[in-house]
Amino acid sequence: MTDTVATLTIGDKTFEFPVLSGSMGPDVIDIRSLYAKTGMFTYDPGFTSTAACDSTITFIDGDQGELMYRGYPIDQLAEHSNYLEVCYLLLYGELPTPEQMADFEQRVTRHTMVHEQMHYFYRGFRRDAHPMAIVCGVVGAMAAFYHDSTDISDDMQREIASIRMVAKIPTIVAMAYKYSIGQPFVYPRNDLNFASNFLRMCFSVPPEEYVVDPVVAHALDLIFTLHADHEQNASTSTVRLAGSSDANPFACIAAGVACLWGPAHGGANEAALDMLREIGTPDHIPEFIARAKDKNDPFRLMGFGHRVYKSYDPRATVMQKTAKEVLDLLGVKNNPTLQVAQELEKIALSDPYFIERKLYPNVDFYSGIILDAIGFPTSMFTAIFALSRTVGWIAQWKEMIADPQKKIGRPRQLYNGAPTRDYEPIGNRWDRT
Ligand code: SDX
Repeated sequence: MTDTVATLTIGDKTFEFPVLSGSMGPDVIDIRSLYAKTGMFTYDPGFTSTAACDSTITFIDGDQGELMYRGYPIDQLAEHSNYLEVCYLLLYGELPTPEQMADFEQRVTRHTMVHEQMHYFYRGFRRDAHPMAIVCGVVGAMAAFYHDSTDISDDMQREIASIRMVAKIPTIVAMAYKYSIGQPFVYPRNDLNFASNFLRMCFSVPPEEYVVDPVVAHALDLIFTLHADHEQNASTSTVRLAGSSDANPFACIAAGVACLWGPAHGGANEAALDMLREIGTPDHIPEFIARAKDKNDPFRLMGFGHRVYKSYDPRATVMQKTAKEVLDLLGVKNNPTLQVAQELEKIALSDPYFIERKLYPNVDFYSGIILDAIGFPTSMFTAIFALSRTVGWIAQWKEMIADPQKKIGRPRQLYNGAPTRDYEPIGNRWDRT
């Protein structure tokens, strides 16, 4: 709370609302009493000016291009930490001691297998099903296999469900990939780290063991870290809204997966690589830039622009550097897709249309280049994003459930439909054309 109040004058009436300050970022006007006082709603489609909750997990400064998990800048975590340690940080609020990390790693490692019956659940899907369709269905179905951790009023069940989600999502995503390519599922192994285990579950086959390249494993672990959480984005807000009805955690995460799939959100990484491939060579870039600027053309530069970042997405900076390193270390010289991406970025960032609208590459612009170099098909990109973001969704869900101010989310509307009218029998409904 601050001493400041916001004053709203409507006609000859004046209303005051408290202004609240957080530890960082913009103050907020507490309008919870606005409808009771004024009989009016606020109107904010897309929530461009709305804080839906207060949170202590992730902070973004869109103007400065800063992102912090629990106060730690993303570039420091990218350089010094690893995904499983970042999971602990997001879930429990502090970096772990060596003993806490060992215990957490052991708990996660012991939950990486899925119920054997789930293998049959996969077999109900068509082989050519998109991995995100499978992941969305399987995560939701976890409530049918792990109903002993669905009671959200039980702290222990919430904790077990959280660990199960973080631990099993790599196995679920890897199984979705294996199923889509007609290969047998690969069980997790307890002697591999988080990223290496996922790589092996995706790329190992019975006749030939997959040997994990530590460079590749590190790059993938970095991608996991960069995607782990991102404040109140669309899919996280979906998880919070689903959770506000006391739905079980698996249903809430499945809702988050469904929302993330959209090409305006997490689906952009798949769409961005497809776009870069469609452009093909730098000489075709001007044509696509023109289309992106044409209001009559629905085409947008995928991997560009962001609701919050009005400067460079700090994750894209790390991602671009990693893309170059991985391609070099994998011996992929003169990767045409990376060349097109870098040239497209250079041209776009010198174009007044993009400068005026503060459109910069976002996290999805370069990530696909790395995933493609590792050997994943574009259809797996968003599923890998969902894998990474599951810990952020869980951390935000836990915070919402534990919030003493928790209420079911129930927005209102500006109604522009038909005014009240009486029913008329069909015999009176002559042709209205
Ligand atoms: C993610 O919220 C998060 O934190 C999400 C995320 C996370 O970690 O959870 O960061 C992950 O979803 C990243 C964003 C991935 N999506 C894409 O790359 C898809 C392409 N980008 C756009 O669709 C768009 O930029 C959004 C959806 C990301 C943001 O849209 P906004 O904030 O609603 O902005 P807008 O649509 O109102 O655009 C403002 C202007 C418009 O032009 P005008 O009407 O003012 O003339 O910018 C233009 C838009 O047409 N514009 C673009 C553009 N993005 C915006 N023009 C061309 N290409 C683009 N990519």
